[in-house]
Amino acid sequence: MKILFLNGPNLNLLGQREPDIYGRTTLADIEAMVRDQAAKSGIGIEFRQSNLEGELVTWIQEAKGKFEVIVLNAAGYTHTSVVLRDAIAAVGVPTIEIHLSNVYAREEFRHVSLIAPVCRGQIAGFGANSYVLAVEAAIIVNGGK
Ligand code: DQA
Repeated sequence: MKILFLNGPNLNLLGQREPDIYGRTTLADIEAMVRDQAAKSGIGIEFRQSNLEGELVTWIQEAKGKFEVIVLNAAGYTHTSVVLRDAIAAVGVPTIEIHLSNVYAREEFRHVSLIAPVCRGQIAGFGANSYVLAVEAAIIVNGGK
């Protein structure tokens, strides 16, 4: 199995960005954690970040036939992006929504996810470990393989 991890805007700033909320772990640290976890199960990983909505849409479109599962931290686009939702629905690659923070314990505008209805499930609130848990979730989504 191959998993495509996609990260949205500002996640390149992890480590320095609002550490009380997001912790001190950098995105490169998280990628290393995910690679370790995936290697244990012989899973291939591609790990990308973009601040551009259209680039994320293109990556979702290109995932078809190349990746069995997408793990998506859409960051702020979670709460605003019709186009990301439409891409997930159009492409049909099973997608898992993740967040570092517990978005439901934060501002009300973060309680709404436009992408949740087209995702297979959601993991939120476990910091960098949300990404590690997503590897396990991807295995389940892929039928235990
Ligand atoms: C986030 C939560 C979003 O509300 C926020 O805009 C982010 C990060 C998280 O991982 O907790 O940028 O997706």
